[in-house]
Amino acid sequence: MLKTIVIGACGQIGTELVLKLREKKGAENVIAADLKDNCPEALRGGPYCKMDILDESFVREYIIKNEIKEVYLLAALLSATAEKNPDFAWKLNMEGLFTILKLGKEKHIDKIFWPSSIAVFGPTTPRDNTPQYTVMEPSTVYGISKLAGERWCEYYHAKFDVDVRSIRYPGLISYTSLPGGGTTDYAVDIFYQAKLNVPYVCYLKEDSSMPMMFMEDAIRATIELMDAPKESVKIRSAYNLSGCSFTPKELASEIQNYIPDFKISYAPDFRQAIADSWPKSIDDSAARKDWSWKENFSTSELVKIMIHNVNTDLLK
Ligand code: SER
Repeated sequence: MLKTIVIGACGQIGTELVLKLREKKGAENVIAADLKDNCPEALRGGPYCKMDILDESFVREYIIKNEIKEVYLLAALLSATAEKNPDFAWKLNMEGLFTILKLGKEKHIDKIFWPSSIAVFGPTTPRDNTPQYTVMEPSTVYGISKLAGERWCEYYHAKFDVDVRSIRYPGLISYTSLPGGGTTDYAVDIFYQAKLNVPYVCYLKEDSSMPMMFMEDAIRATIELMDAPKESVKIRSAYNLSGCSFTPKELASEIQNYIPDFKISYAPDFRQAIADSWPKSIDDSAARKDWSWKENFSTSELVKIMIHNVNTDLLK
């Protein structure tokens, strides 16, 4: 079995992706790598490496020496955090990608997954059912880095035959680990407050619709894209991907079906401008056509699962 590494394994996507990949490929073949000194409990069932993606020589040596052939590069700063530290966000989001793309160019690795985001779109993009190919003028550091990254992925594929694959993830909803630093994260935080019986103060307006997806769908999409035959993966920038779309008000009302006393109020901050610049819904027909993507979870299904599984101990 070829060796796989997930860099940024302790994050919201990484934690669940590592577990799923280990189930599929055998725990010993999937290395979790992250900045943390100690491997979190959830990932202790397989190898762990403390790795700083910005330490290029360490990353190169580790990947070459261990004959790792598949890389999932998830380490990044998300939209809201990136706005607070633009220089570092640009450095982290771009340099890590180059380190891995170069390893692909040199044929040390066979396959790369690198996540893009709905943040590649901007205020001039059509916001309803946003097409795969459209105006892209992102107004956040995070979005600029993701759009630049997409162009570099396509370039390395075209010029050097690097097998790199990517998805423009919508906001991701999960309960196994806490998200951090995203504009869509209200849609996870809200469940913790609801379960603590605390009123939720949302940093977006009640009618801010954004594309969202339950993590199980996102992980399945990632693995399906990586498993697709090379020739089916026709888009080498990143695929649009859609799950469901909702507003804070709609989400709160779904939650009230389970917790009728749940209260929400709205105090928009700087993240409102980011949300306003992103799509409300996404056209993902290319992913459906090229590698048969289909979502499984609707808003009400994901709310049901979140209400039953969110564990407020994670907040400690
Ligand atoms: N969920 C991400 C964010 O809000 C978007 O990719 O930053």
